[in-house]
Amino acid sequence: MTEVEEILKNNSDYTLFSWSKQKGLSPIAVKRAKGVYLYDYNDKKYIDFSSGLMNVNIGHGNQRVTDAVVKQMQEVSYVTPSCVTKVRGELGKKLASVTPKGLNKALFTVCGATAIDNAIKLARLYTGRHKIIARYRAFHGASYGGLSAGGDPRKLPADSQQAPNFIHVEDPFCYRCPFGQTFGKCQYECISHIERVLEFEGPQNVAAILMEGESGSSGCIKYPPNYFKQLRALCDKHGILLVVDEVMSGFGRTGKWFGIDNHGVTPDIIATAKGLTAGYIPFGAVIVSDKIASHYDDIPLMLGLTYSAHSVACAAALEVLKIYEDENMISNASEMGKYIDKKVEQLKSIHPSIGDFRNTGLLGCIELVKNKTTKEPMAPFNAKPHEMEIMNKVAAKIKELGMYTFVRWNYIFIAPPLCINKEQIDEGLAIISEAIKIADEYVN
Ligand SMILES: Cc1ncc(COP(=O)(O)O)c(C=O)c1O
Repeated sequence: MTEVEEILKNNSDYTLFSWSKQKGLSPIAVKRAKGVYLYDYNDKKYIDFSSGLMNVNIGHGNQRVTDAVVKQMQEVSYVTPSCVTKVRGELGKKLASVTPKGLNKALFTVCGATAIDNAIKLARLYTGRHKIIARYRAFHGASYGGLSAGGDPRKLPADSQQAPNFIHVEDPFCYRCPFGQTFGKCQYECISHIERVLEFEGPQNVAAILMEGESGSSGCIKYPPNYFKQLRALCDKHGILLVVDEVMSGFGRTGKWFGIDNHGVTPDIIATAKGLTAGYIPFGAVIVSDKIASHYDDIPLMLGLTYSAHSVACAAALEVLKIYEDENMISNASEMGKYIDKKVEQLKSIHPSIGDFRNTGLLGCIELVKNKTTKEPMAPFNAKPHEMEIMNKVAAKIKELGMYTFVRWNYIFIAPPLCINKEQIDEGLAIISEAIKIADEYVN
């Protein structure tokens, strides 16, 4: 047995894989990774066009993070959350310098789902209300709280046990408007719909409206202009908290520190993870407004985790935040995003199957269709395995040509590390363009 065969066998014999049947998988055995590239055991190079799961924002293999983590481990790896460390305080301070104005205190968690769960719990505790309004086309994590808050179909197999009091609303999905409207001619039915749902549910019972700062795995559905401002006004009118999920859209992914920074509003709570440590160590945070923070000056904050503010994770996060700044990664994300927009516009004119491209900074997704007029998707929402035949061929081609990216239903995600340059974007888009030729054959 070769080394790589043994690695694959050990993984498939003794470990379980997420979100898939266990037989017949052919995962890439990654030996090392550097910058925007992964390398397998045959030294085949893959350009990582989804930054892992949209988390490795600074790129792979940054020695500065390794050094910071090792140094912290040599001093102290773990203290209970009731003790403090230098690095925890420094991270809190650094984070407060990049978060929206007035959000200055963080509770550190272990991942995105634990950030979301704690944000939901806090919104309920703080307001004394129980309902949470969230979007159908959103994923907020795989814990019961996160799954129930999201509307993403990954919840459906487990939804008989879902957590209560989550109410879902339609998305402002302009390419496929659920209200049959056309952007520019519409009356923002996506907002009046939420107003109506609030009336039905009793706004006095609603603790929070929860939305991603910028939509991610549901298809990078862009919020129309002023959508968030209108949501903020609705929240203010009814004393509802605006909670933004910045797990995927945070830390430069959209060309700003946080996705919500693109919308000119200040949320009450941010839940974040992924880019906080750029995937080097699992970590997350719930960041709250000064008003919420001070509410707990004299009453207990009934939230907690063994690994809250883990000092090694804090060290990784602190270094990652410095790297974003020292290496100008966030302005690069904005600039490279514009370059991608221009290049995909050119691809649109040569590929009849590209129906739409939605992108903010480096959080983008191509939507493939069988017909640009009818917008019939190349694979439907929540596609069953047999409906994925064409997209599976596209995905296989992408991999064969040396790219790792996230392909879901009729979506191909373009969300590379923020350190990517124009040549690497050209290299990646050339692969995608070649693979999309397969889908072009099915256009009718
Ligand atoms: C928007 C959003 N929220 C929450 C999560 C959950 O994060 P985690 O997988 O770290 O629990 C994800 C994961 O992809 C996400 O995209």
